Amino acid sequence: MSNVVLVGAQWGDEGKGKITDLIAREFDFVVRYQGGNNAGHTVVSGDKKLALHLIPSGIMYENAIPVIGNGVVVNPQVLVEEMRMLEGEGFPCDRLKISCDAHVIMPYHIELDRASEFKLGKNEIGTTNRGIGPCYQDKAARSGIRIQDLLDEKVFRMKVAAALEVKNAILEKVYGKRTFTVDEICAACLPYAEVIRPHMAETAMMLNEALRDGKRILFEGAQGTLLDIDHGTYPFVTSSSCCAGGAATGSGVGPAAIDRVLGIEKAYVTRVGAGPFPTELLYPENGGEGQDAVDGDLMCSVGHEYGVTTGRKRRCGWFDAVIARYAAEVNGLTDIALTKLDVLSAFDEIKICVAYECNGERYEYFPMQQSVLYHAKPIYKTMPGWKGQDITKATAFEELPQAAQDYIAEIERLSGVKATIVSVGPDRHQTLMRGWDR
Ligand code: GDP
Ligand code: IMO
Ligand code: MG
Repeated sequence: MSNVVLVGAQWGDEGKGKITDLIAREFDFVVRYQGGNNAGHTVVSGDKKLALHLIPSGIMYENAIPVIGNGVVVNPQVLVEEMRMLEGEGFPCDRLKISCDAHVIMPYHIELDRASEFKLGKNEIGTTNRGIGPCYQDKAARSGIRIQDLLDEKVFRMKVAAALEVKNAILEKVYGKRTFTVDEICAACLPYAEVIRPHMAETAMMLNEALRDGKRILFEGAQGTLLDIDHGTYPFVTSSSCCAGGAATGSGVGPAAIDRVLGIEKAYVTRVGAGPFPTELLYPENGGEGQDAVDGDLMCSVGHEYGVTTGRKRRCGWFDAVIARYAAEVNGLTDIALTKLDVLSAFDEIKICVAYECNGERYEYFPMQQSVLYHAKPIYKTMPGWKGQDITKATAFEELPQAAQDYIAEIERLSGVKATIVSVGPDRHQTLMRGWDR
């Protein structure tokens, strides 16, 4: 196995951090290629539990060089704080490389993110308020500020002054919010420049050189397929290319270098923020009732479904094979890592959504129109559970109860991709390898 892209196949929080950490030792580089500190990736090893937002989850292995690629948006303060946190935990960050071309999240991006969400009111996206969207907006508008701009105070001041002319007008006149001064922005960003400077690199060149030397690269996606700016449930998406294709543009490595695409899928589905979610089991506080509300609450509490970045309660629902098939297509998945199977041990019966129904029509594939997705009613297949049987100590697929094996087989059949990794607990060791390491 050589170069692998690891992507979230649902709406994020599928367990990408755990699986990246698990397989990172097989690679020479672990590269984040999109997103920013909207991500929250959890890595658990023994009694250590780390939440990473920007630095690749491969940081715990000394052999792998962690890289923040050009497609990432970087909040300098968050980056430096995360480096200090990791160093405090005994994981030195001196190997970390950061692309000079990555864009910088500025204080006004965060203010604009909050203000625009507030203005949307009940139509809000439910962003993480980390300034992600406004930063990518500036990148696309060709007015962004990049990591390399932090190197030269004169250039930085000039670019900030130009940006503030527009940002301050929007903040004040459109949103009635506070404005910023150039000095204030410089004071907020430049102290971090000296810490970041030794890590700045031409990462695209570095990675291509590494490929020529036969080195292996793992691309760690953030967010998930349904949050992708092109392929997700627009406009309820993030502002970057989370899908496998984004790994090429977000790192500067050609697509032909990618050998395998590993989709991370929870054995059920969660979503944070607003937007359509056909298999959602509505909570009582959101108008849910009956068995669905009971199941949703159980999934949330057993799965500890609270956001790593914002602490928000995640919306929960049954596994959706329609989106699993879609994710298999738009990412070109070669493998699935099925996570959190242990959470389903709490249920008598388990449902899988095999298709949607809308206006009398059956949809086997992801509907083209957002309005269909909004009104889609899941068509479920019910499978027997393995309630009460502890699967968290299983060490091989064959040790799982027959019902759990059948459930995995059904997911594989419906998505057309083999689950070569099955995760039965948050720890690195709670993982069943089924041909991933072939
Ligand atoms: P990511 O954003 O995709 O990296 O996922 P998050 O870290 O946001 O959320 C996944 C959560 O599930 C974390 O708390 C993980 O420690 C936890 N987790 C990962 N795999 C498993 C698993 O197989 N079983 C259980 N019970 N928890 C898991
Ligand atoms: P990881 O990498 C789950 C969601 C937000 C919101 C939408 C847009 O941990 O899986 P943004 O701040 O990006 O503009 O918000 O995307 N979102 C995530 N949901 N996991 C994430 O990251 C997410 N990053 C963003 O909740 O709905
Ligand atoms: Mg997460």
